Order: sequence, then structure tokens, then C-alpha cells
Amino acid sequence: MDLDDQARRVLTGNDQGGYTIPAAGLYPYQWNWDSAFAAWGFSTFDVDRAWTEVETLFSAQWENGAVPHIVFHRPDPGYFPGPEVWGTHRTPPTSGISQPPVAATLIRKVYEADPDAGQARLAALYPKLLAWHRWWRTHRCHSGVVAITHPWESGRDNCPGWDIGLANVDASGVGAYTRMDTQHVDPSMRPGKLDYDRYVAIVQFGRECGWDQDEIVARSPFLMADPATTFILIRANRDLAVLARRIGEDPADPEHWADELEAALPEIWNEDLRSYDARDLRSGRFANTLACGAFLAWLAGSRAPGMEERLMGVWNRVRYGIPSSDPSGPGFDARRYWRGPSWPFMNALIAIGLHEAGRMDEYERLRRETAAVITRGGFHEYFDPYDGTPCGGSDFTWTAAIWLAWAGRG
Ligand code: DGY
Repeated sequence: MDLDDQARRVLTGNDQGGYTIPAAGLYPYQWNWDSAFAAWGFSTFDVDRAWTEVETLFSAQWENGAVPHIVFHRPDPGYFPGPEVWGTHRTPPTSGISQPPVAATLIRKVYEADPDAGQARLAALYPKLLAWHRWWRTHRCHSGVVAITHPWESGRDNCPGWDIGLANVDASGVGAYTRMDTQHVDPSMRPGKLDYDRYVAIVQFGRECGWDQDEIVARSPFLMADPATTFILIRANRDLAVLARRIGEDPADPEHWADELEAALPEIWNEDLRSYDARDLRSGRFANTLACGAFLAWLAGSRAPGMEERLMGVWNRVRYGIPSSDPSGPGFDARRYWRGPSWPFMNALIAIGLHEAGRMDEYERLRRETAAVITRGGFHEYFDPYDGTPCGGSDFTWTAAIWLAWAGRG
């Protein structure tokens, strides 16, 4: 069977009927940004199913506009922390945080795959997308750029950038719990115990606040500015404005929100590091870590003097795609989740930016390096950036999706 067929089999195999799980065992529910990538993958062979994926996700939207990072459609004892830990008391149960808003950007691709088929569905989804983007602006952009209230909200859980913020989190009262992730994949490829205790402690804090967003932002032990989510939201607002025009809606709000975010970017430019950088919003301190999120500047059409040379220097240290953190920086670990591995879906997002910046050699290099690890190692979650060893979960939805939509289109 050729790789395209295998990729389609991964998507249809992970399809639970209306939504797709990221990977069997490890992630048995619907995850927010995974689903947006699933939709992009489905759009290469089943546009109707692509729309259904995001419609199911948005059916769990909160009244305040938030789109949760996990929707617990059906109980599954194989995952921790499940709905009872989050305690959001919703139907269907959901987590209490969000995840990077890539949906508008990828829905635009789904729409463009077949505008006639997508017209009515886009019109129905548009107000929900707009409400979600408004939620980001109201509840996460207090300082201008995007703040995250939990490392999971960034989707890049144990990236070294969060270490200084996590150091403020007291996990001594977290109590006993059993991790499930390390029963599904090699523990040396997952976040460490102290990180996990702190993740759980922040969830417990949110639950104690009844998931009141004002209180969480005011008092949470963890609040950090995230370059990656900021770039993603700038881009998503621009894409949302394009989509607005296609259905005769006024694009003024998303355009204005993108402009505001762009104007705030100097807040996360770390001149010492010569890169965009995460920042602890409680202390104002920079993380001093160069992560793959900095490469998403191109996705947002942003530049800063010296940025490109610096980013290329980091990429040139490895062989297989963009490392999730700088190999010469603090906390790098080539196979541990977001502390070093190269993630195919992240490469795909970065490549969209390279393409639009006209950096075609780099675009093609990134596609080639991503295709090489998938061809050799299969549809894994992430890969060692030095030797391409497959890591994390296998038969992974978004890796298969980006193969169909991008990496496999050589
Ligand atoms: C996990 O369970 O590791 C997820 O990243 C949380 O969203």
C-alpha cells in the first residue's frame, strides 16, 4: 500500500464518527488543534467529512466563546486527567482551557478545496469562529500578545520556555494520581514527573476558580506570553477576515485584532536572544529559550532584524525539520516531547509561512526533511531531529493529515 493510502487509513481508523482522535490509546478524545489538522487532511479526499470534524469541535463551544482543548465525547479510563479532574460540568464534558487557534487558517484551506460545497457550512461556522477569536482577545490578550494559563493551552506542553513560569507553581498539595500517558509510550519521550505534578496543580487551581477566566488570569500561578500562539492568532485573524469577505460579513473585527497583536510584538522580542521568546507575565522575565514557535513569525508575516539568520542557525544544527527547541539552549532533549523533537504538523505550519515569505528553498527543504522521516518511520507523533528516530505515539492523525495535505506532495 502506498503512503497516501496508509495516511487515509490512519485518518479513517482514528475516526470515531464525526470526530477524530489524535491517536488510539494515548489520546482517546477530540483535541482542538489536532482536529483542525485532521480536517485539512480529510479535505484532500472527503471535504464533507472535513467540515464535520470542525463542526463537531465547535458544538462543544462554551457560551463565553471558548473552544476547549479536549472534548470528552465518550468515557475512556485510559486517559488522565479525565473529565472528573477538570470538573467543568458541561455536556459533553470538556477541559477548561483552550488550544492554539489554528482552525480559521485550516478551515480556509478546507473551504478553498471546494468553495461551492463549503459556502453554507462556512456561513454557519463563521459566527462561532468569530466568538472564539473574540474570547482570545478578551481573556488572553491583556498584555497585548497572547498569554497562556497552562502549558497545555500552548499545545507545546513541556517546551523549555515554560520552565521559568512552572517554577512558580507549588505542586506539593497535588495528591496521588496515576499518569496514563507513560503507559502508552516510552516515559523518556514524555514530560517528567515534576512537570506533570505542576500541570495537574494548575488544573486544580482552575477548577477551584470554577473556570472563571478573570480570576484565573488575575491569580493563576502560571501566566506566560506565548510567541507561537500569538503568531497563530495573528494569522488566524487574517484568515478569518478573508473568510468573512467570502460570505459577505464585515472583516473589521478580525483585521483590527490582528493589527493590535502585531503592534504588541515588541513585547516578546528578546534582543539578547535575538529571537521572539516566551515571557513570564508575573515577573516580566524572558525565558531565554529559542523554541520552534519563533519560526511561526513567518506564518504571521512578521519579521525582526537578524531574526532569519538566527533561526536558520538553529535549524542548521539538525537534519530532520525544525527542532522544538534550540539544541544549544537550556533543557534541550532530542527525544522528549517538546524539548527537542521535530513535529511534522509544526513543520507544516512553519512551511506555510516560508512559502508566503517566498523562501522557496527553505520551504522545499522543510518538506523534504519532513517527508523523509515519515517515509522511513511512519506516521509517528514526533521525531528525533538528528537521526529521524520515530518517537511518541504511532498512527497519528495530524502526521497522516499533513502528509496528505503537504509533505507527501513532492
Ligand atoms: C496530554 O495529555 O499530554 C496533552 O498534551 C494534554 O492536552
